[in-house]
Amino acid sequence: MRGTAEVIVGMQWGDEGKGRVVDAVMPKCDVVVRYQGGANAGHTVIVEGKKYVFHILPSGMLYSGKVCVVGNGVVVDPDRLFEELGELSSQGMDRARLVVSGSAHVVMPYHKVLDQLEESVRSKEKRIGTTGQGIGPCYVDKFNRTGIRVYDLMHPDMLRDKLDYILGLKNQIITRIYKETPMSFDAVYEKAMSWSERLSVYIGDGSAIIAKALNEGKCVLFEGAQGTLLDIDHGTYPYVTSSNPTCGGVFTGTGVGPKSIDKIIGVAKAYCTRVGEGPFPSEDLGEMGKYLREKGREYGATTGRPRRCGWLDLVALKYAARINGATHLALTKLDVLSGLEEIKVCVAYEYEGKKLEDYPADTWMLSQVKPLYRTFKGFSEDTSGAKAMEDLPQAARDYVKFIEDQTGLPVMMLGVGPDRKETIYRE
Ligand code: GTP
Repeated sequence: MRGTAEVIVGMQWGDEGKGRVVDAVMPKCDVVVRYQGGANAGHTVIVEGKKYVFHILPSGMLYSGKVCVVGNGVVVDPDRLFEELGELSSQGMDRARLVVSGSAHVVMPYHKVLDQLEESVRSKEKRIGTTGQGIGPCYVDKFNRTGIRVYDLMHPDMLRDKLDYILGLKNQIITRIYKETPMSFDAVYEKAMSWSERLSVYIGDGSAIIAKALNEGKCVLFEGAQGTLLDIDHGTYPYVTSSNPTCGGVFTGTGVGPKSIDKIIGVAKAYCTRVGEGPFPSEDLGEMGKYLREKGREYGATTGRPRRCGWLDLVALKYAARINGATHLALTKLDVLSGLEEIKVCVAYEYEGKKLEDYPADTWMLSQVKPLYRTFKGFSEDTSGAKAMEDLPQAARDYVKFIEDQTGLPVMMLGVGPDRKETIYRE
């Protein structure tokens, strides 16, 4: 019997709580695969009050006996990877078997330097809000065919040759454009060689592992980082990440075919947040935004940056459902809305005096729209102990039902608190 495959994808601007959804779906799965992004992701899983934050490793690392794959679409920062492995092992939690795709690209020291230099010369309006970890420049090199892959680290002479050429190019940019000191070839090469032995025990062919697991009737989970509205193609370009967090990224980022996928779970918060620059139609710059930030602890897991906050945007959520071909929704942080007299949801936009029901793919147009809201009655009960929909106040149930009706997707899981046990499962 053929196995099953599920995708977990962010439906907003990232930080939707994908980590806890992966954690919930994980027990029935055998293999979990990250398909894009890099150490700029920050998935938080809280188990019995203990917090684990994953940046580059799949969140499935907490389970013993699972295979965790870092797919070819991920950009690997080996220092961060080892750091994370070290932290897990010191807590006795490195229970899964890790495989790093040999075709994944490596974030090199010059990528970080260039990331920071590029952002430093951008004016405030032009800043992308990069985390400065070299992710963007690494993807640029990948597409420019000047990248270093994990496989390359296994071939010292070939690597030396490649690096000699590439670092020459980078140093031209560093010295001529940014007027900074060039990077030392020996230091970069030695750094790369220091990674190769440690990585060699993890290296593998992610695509072949996934195919084998599916052929053996196993369950494979694909774990997205960031979110649909940060997608390089479908997000609010240029205020986006450099990869495809959307479902399409699964296929190129792991080497699995689209027909293998059985379920696509879109994760959304019960409201909206965004980090960095770029349009955010339902952003609340007033007291409500502050309230959501404090109550929802909306500060970046990787950078500590305060997140911009606002009401749920259904126009954008429907767009994300379309782009990903989502089959289910997982709604997180419903508990954060408890205590509000009323809850607003953006149901349409106004653009040049006209009502707009569809999300404009044109970023400039999106930056000009005004949100049109529908207001719901709020609820004040503490929802964190709820185990079933019936345990929720009627107003909360109405809110969830409205989201289901509007998106046409069933909410299969609801987060009513950050802990693993604070979850309502509906299937
Ligand atoms: P990225 O891939 O970086 O976008 O991260 P993510 O989508 O995995 O989000 P993250 O794990 O950072 O989750 C955001 C935060 O929300 C974490 O601190 C979680 O513990 C917390 N969280 C998740 N679900 C809930 C929930 O239902 N209620 C509350 N109060 N907090 C939650």
